[in-house]
Amino acid sequence: MSLKVKNICCIGAGYVGGPTMAVIAKHCPKIQINVVDLNSERIKKWNDKNLENLPVFEPGLDEIIKKCRGLNLHFSTDIKKHIESADLIFISVNTPTKKTGVGAGFASDLKWIEKSAREISKYASGNTIIVEKSTLPVKTASTIKEIVYSSNNSSHNKNFHILSNPEFLAEGTAINDLENPDRVLIGGENKNAIEALSNIYLNWIKEEKILTTNIWSSELSKLIANAFLAQRISSINSVSAICESTGADIKEVSMAIGYDKRIGRDFLDAGPGFGGSCFKKDILNLIYISKHYGLDEVANYWQQVLTMNNWQTRRISRIIIEKLFGTIADKKIVVLGFSFKANTNDTRESPAINICQELLIEGGNLFIYDPKVDPLQIDIELRESMQGNNEYHINEGSWNFTNDIYEALTNADAVIILTEWQEFKNLNWLKISQIMRRPAWIFDTRYLLNPKDINSIDINYWRIGYGNTNLDHN
Ligand code: NAD
Ligand code: UGA
Repeated sequence: MSLKVKNICCIGAGYVGGPTMAVIAKHCPKIQINVVDLNSERIKKWNDKNLENLPVFEPGLDEIIKKCRGLNLHFSTDIKKHIESADLIFISVNTPTKKTGVGAGFASDLKWIEKSAREISKYASGNTIIVEKSTLPVKTASTIKEIVYSSNNSSHNKNFHILSNPEFLAEGTAINDLENPDRVLIGGENKNAIEALSNIYLNWIKEEKILTTNIWSSELSKLIANAFLAQRISSINSVSAICESTGADIKEVSMAIGYDKRIGRDFLDAGPGFGGSCFKKDILNLIYISKHYGLDEVANYWQQVLTMNNWQTRRISRIIIEKLFGTIADKKIVVLGFSFKANTNDTRESPAINICQELLIEGGNLFIYDPKVDPLQIDIELRESMQGNNEYHINEGSWNFTNDIYEALTNADAVIILTEWQEFKNLNWLKISQIMRRPAWIFDTRYLLNPKDINSIDINYWRIGYGNTNLDHN
């Protein structure tokens, strides 16, 4: 029996739920889509008339919201009502690493998934397709199935089909990734349910890009895709350290290896370590699963990707401190960029958090600028990271936010580029070198600036993955 989708409910109005449903709404005007969330503040922001106040910043998202909101795209806290009316429910809730209890520090915390499944069990009626959009440990579909069929409210007129349809969008390019995905992955057993979900995507995505697999392959592939991407960054970051020691240039090495089609050019930018809400948590989860199945060598292999990432972030703060004569107490340091990458307002697991933390422990006075991150969010991240840190005393370093980069840089000792926002490239670096206190330093942890522009200026310049290129240097 073919299943027709007229009403979609998406549980979770976050970085995935919001943009993904917006793009579906754009391409499926005949489907009503309700995005629901427990967080009323977030829903209020999604409904804000001023599109500058949307809770998620993604280039191109505001235009779609403007076009679809109120027509076939709605944001609400009325979870019961919208589950009741849905033919298809995306679960797009957070799945962070467990902080306490069994598996703490490694396993994914599935309490929000379980809560969603219980609500679906309670309120859904008739035939309902449940789609796992969140990234989940392999085998979670069987837990969801057990929960949705076990509620006291379940009766024989409820029928559920569970599919896995992981999301591969990257923040900052989410709209383009959703409009032109490399693939859409659907794992499941029931052909009709798979067809119903595929039909939604077929409104704008070619059939050959829609891959169907068994449900466990689909769940696992998402974790593995992220693990491979993170592994690539740890690999190139490890090479950046070799470049600095030997005089090779990481940009040149990345280019040289990237020309090999088998290696490929993307995702070879060395930096201060990967951040974002997912790479670390998904690898930790993979480690946990591997250990669970007694695959300790596999677990150790993936652990190394995280070890290298932590090392890279710490290595950079150490270099900064060392170059500033081993002490930054009372020095003025301007931090450019706090989000974990450019074109997003997300700060989760941003390397900026740990780097700022290390500088604060050393007593630095930080002036932080980011074009999209709310200063309140920076404050929350830094306070949280400092909490319980015995090395840090409140009288040591300090942090302030600034909207005026040039004012902040006046008499500053160092400027550190932590996020690759393009606007930093276009700053007047000559003027900056003249207003800073001497000896002044630029630390470019993203290799963002054009070395030709900076080399002609009288300022100390350190960039990631670049050492002494002099032939006579040993
Ligand atoms: P998020 O924290 O931004 O959003 C999740 C939302 O779910 C929150 O607003 C939360 O309040 C809501 N929520 C939790 N439980 C709920 C419930 N029972 N009922 C209603 N709302 C509930 O998270 P995110 O970044 O959107 O990630 C969601 C999932 O997608 C995660 O599993 C993540 O690994 C995965 N993912 C994220 C990205 C990304 O770029 N952020 C990309 C691909 C996959
Ligand atoms: C990543 C994946 O790219 C998405 O496919 C996936 O869906 C998503 O995780 C997820 O599951 O959450 P995202 O974390 O948004 O997306 O952003 P990325 O572009 O992957 O960047 C992650 C981190 O790696 C950032 O801190 C970025 O600066 C860093 N990075 C990326 C590098 O240091 N070098 C690179 O070459 C690429």
